[in-house]
Amino acid sequence: MTSSPNVIDHPLLQHKISLLRDKDTPPIIFRLLVREIAQLMLFEASRDLAMSAREIETPLAKMTASVLAAPGPVLASIMRAGNVMLDAALEIIPSAAVCHIGIYRDHDTLEAVEYYFNGPPDLADRPLLIVDPMLATANSSVDAISQLKARGVTDMRLICILAAPEGLAALAAAHPDVPVFVGAVDSHLNEKGYIIPGLGDAGDRSYAT
Ligand code: PRP
Ligand code: URA
Repeated sequence: MTSSPNVIDHPLLQHKISLLRDKDTPPIIFRLLVREIAQLMLFEASRDLAMSAREIETPLAKMTASVLAAPGPVLASIMRAGNVMLDAALEIIPSAAVCHIGIYRDHDTLEAVEYYFNGPPDLADRPLLIVDPMLATANSSVDAISQLKARGVTDMRLICILAAPEGLAALAAAHPDVPVFVGAVDSHLNEKGYIIPGLGDAGDRSYAT
């Protein structure tokens, strides 16, 4: 099955993604770019968040103003690399609650290994924006979404900077109900499950490991 991701094909975003891919971009600039990219992508991916009306008074008149509906969104980060996007996303939606999902990819099997989960108690009642820079095999994202669904979450969207066609197909097969927003769809995965041309290991490049 092939999915139809929402590719955010904006010149500012594409420029920053190209800088991010460059192997000579050091971790401090890499993190800065991931933050900027996350904020641009979040702007698009949060377009369908529900609004409610609130009566307020400006210095000149009363009015009915639009605000984010309560309970507000939850930002879910697939650690580690998702945390860089998370911090930037929190600046755009400071009222959001946070869900940390600890998953890493086993280097040999490429299977997702779960090690941590911590989210708000009313997770199931809120819209979720899941952030992770990379969608390669999609094993990590599929696992994270399954963990969220097991806790009752129904309203979620996934935001990834780079995706492989193989991962998009796997995600669409496992969770066809979850919209995915990507900055670019690359060529393919190599024999070690890395996105080609990609940007390398997002966690290692973010945290100099
Ligand atoms: C990276 C990335 C994704 C995952 C994508 O995390 O941040 O979570 O790989 O690969 P997949 O689609 O094939 O699952 P990684 O496993 O390197 O963990 P880390 O961020 O803790 O280093
Ligand atoms: N995880 C990464 O960080 N990069 C890839 O190319 C694939 C998985």
